[in-house]
Amino acid sequence: MSEVYEKIERVAPTRASVLLVGESGTGKELVAEAVHRLSRRSSAPFVAVNCGAISPALIESELFGHEKGSFTGAHRRRPGYFQRANGGTLFLDEITEMPPEMQVKLLRALDTHAVRRVGSTDLDEVNIRVISASNQDPGVAMAKGVLRTDLFYRLNVFSIELPPLRHRSGDIALLAEHFLEQLNARDGETRRFTRRAMEHMETLAWPGNVRELRNVVERAAILSDETIDLEVLPRPDPRGGVDRQRSLLQFRVGTALSEVKRRLTLATLDMLDGNKTRTAEMLGISVKTLYNQLKVYEIQEAALQGRADPAEVDLVAGRMSAGGPGCRPWPRG
Ligand SMILES: Nc1ncnc2c1ncn2[C@@H]1O[C@H](COP(=O)(O)OP(=O)(O)O)[C@@H](O)[C@H]1O
Ligand SMILES: [Mg+2]
Repeated sequence: MSEVYEKIERVAPTRASVLLVGESGTGKELVAEAVHRLSRRSSAPFVAVNCGAISPALIESELFGHEKGSFTGAHRRRPGYFQRANGGTLFLDEITEMPPEMQVKLLRALDTHAVRRVGSTDLDEVNIRVISASNQDPGVAMAKGVLRTDLFYRLNVFSIELPPLRHRSGDIALLAEHFLEQLNARDGETRRFTRRAMEHMETLAWPGNVRELRNVVERAAILSDETIDLEVLPRPDPRGGVDRQRSLLQFRVGTALSEVKRRLTLATLDMLDGNKTRTAEMLGISVKTLYNQLKVYEIQEAALQGRADPAEVDLVAGRMSAGGPGCRPWPRG
């Protein structure tokens, strides 16, 4: 977290656009507010827009405003988020949820510092600083076509990555103590965590990140008198839990893709305790494809140990050669 704070302090006083990337609940909105508060614009408005929560039909008028009568229901002239954030900061949350044709218009507005209300021929000049946020990796979002590359370069002058809580377990105790102190102050209490309760929290996966941690602490505090112990904390989720020790794989640069795929598939299956549906989901393939791959790996393994049925080996070898170079020559006979 201290790395994140340092970045916030550096970028806040500049005019640079900031892109925040992190899973839901990692604190993106909190960081956006902090950047605004520490900027020269702090006395001007901070306007947050969740791009995923506005219907695509209305997003242009919501962002840029509209003239009276410009569409059914437009009873009066209305400013958009851009006009309302003028002089301050506009926070565009879930930017990858914005329809691509709207992303084009957004880019033009940012480049020209002007927006056109729906139904108007005039341009409104605007002076805003943009902070945007995405809970998917921008590279993946661009590959999927939900984030335009040109807009990404405009938004990503300075990026701050908010790691998931499970990757910064050193923050868990600090945050848990912080939330408990707040609750104690509010309620006039002196509750505290037992040591094993704290250690247990550090091993949980926290898929909902800081938001989930805060809720867990509040619930535990409600259920406890003086000490907060294991029985009021969630048990580890055997399927959802990503074991930190087992969640990283290393490959030498130049490793054959077929080998990377094999090891990644088997490691993911292992991490998810053999659950094939979740493994397929996580790897972005169908369950059928996963079954076929596992069958191939099983037969390969058997062949290496000299146990395979030769007919099956030929079948698999045919399938493997379709995978192109990088496949090991197949042992025959
Ligand atoms: N570093 C932090 N310190 C204190 N509270 C935090 C921190 N990070 C996140 N939170 C809290 O966690 C919740 C989720 O944060 P939010 O900024 O809404 O996350 P996101 O926008 O990434 O979903 C909020 O209640 C926020 O105040
Ligand atoms: Mg949010």
